Amino acid sequence: MKEQLEKIKEEALKQIAASDALEKLNDIRVSYLGKKGQLTSLLKGMKDVSPEERPKVGQMVNDARALIEGRLEEAKTALAQKAREEQLRKEVIDVTLPAKRQEEGHRHPNTIALEEVERIFIGMGYEVVEGPEVEYDEYNFEKLNIPKGHPARDEQDTFYINDSILLRSQTSPVQVRTMEQGKLPIRMIAPGRVFRSDEVDATHSPSFHQIEGLVIDKGITFADLKGTLEEFAKEMFGTETKVKFRPHHFPFTEPSAEVDVSCFKCGGKGCRFCKGSGWIEILGCGMVHPHVLEMCNIDPDEYSGFAFGVGLERIALLKYEIDDMRLLYENDIRFLKQF
Ligand code: DAH
Repeated sequence: MKEQLEKIKEEALKQIAASDALEKLNDIRVSYLGKKGQLTSLLKGMKDVSPEERPKVGQMVNDARALIEGRLEEAKTALAQKAREEQLRKEVIDVTLPAKRQEEGHRHPNTIALEEVERIFIGMGYEVVEGPEVEYDEYNFEKLNIPKGHPARDEQDTFYINDSILLRSQTSPVQVRTMEQGKLPIRMIAPGRVFRSDEVDATHSPSFHQIEGLVIDKGITFADLKGTLEEFAKEMFGTETKVKFRPHHFPFTEPSAEVDVSCFKCGGKGCRFCKGSGWIEILGCGMVHPHVLEMCNIDPDEYSGFAFGVGLERIALLKYEIDDMRLLYENDIRFLKQF
């Protein structure tokens, strides 16, 4: 029995010394010290040992067990340490490597232009309001004096959800919504996205942005409209800017006009930018049609007002001298960073 014990012990220590992985140590523990392990089975043979010898043999088995356990523990610590060293060696941090760059975003030219327009009008006491992009036909057309069958609808063909709901083709419906709320006087601008069934090219997109303006009060005249837009143009494009009102037609204003600004590139002499004319068209405007006021429950004998609509992309393209609208929608950071 003693010999057997010696043999088991030696064998176990040899195996421990030779093992190079934690799992192997575990296997060794099971095969020697486990419930069915060699040392445990040896103990079962104790009944054949004479009673005098038993304590001694028992002591020897326990010593062997303690020894094997101790060695297993040592080997385990050594292996763990080795693994850690290995890991540290593999994961060296090179502090001289350049740090990962934090790419900062950039405000879009549309946003910069919009904030500029908002700043100017807020400075004149206007409020900034918003309206829904999915709009009723009634607000987008009917209450703006564009009944079914009116030719103005052809110019603003858009995307229909059903017969009475569409993607708004202009921000003008926000005028109707604001007037219907019944709070007077009104001095507001309404920026937002609009939609039309246009093909994409350098100057068109099925989705773009407008900024609507509306002023309703007692005694508002065309002179107020002219003064306001002149002030806006000078602030937006420079104090030298001249403004020209050309008669035009919009169903919801009477009289109506389109506004040109003197080319800020050539000062009005004529260049590639203004296509030789010296003028650049920037917006549509007019005095709110009495019928529109009536449809929005405002008495045209008591109140009058003006309205205007600016294309935001147009302003951004002009201000930053961008010659293709598509660049505004591609969101290439190299492009955006220039503004
Ligand atoms: N909604 C017009 C358009 O999209 C622009 C416009 C013209 C708005 C005249 C106005 C206005 O408020 O008075 O073509």
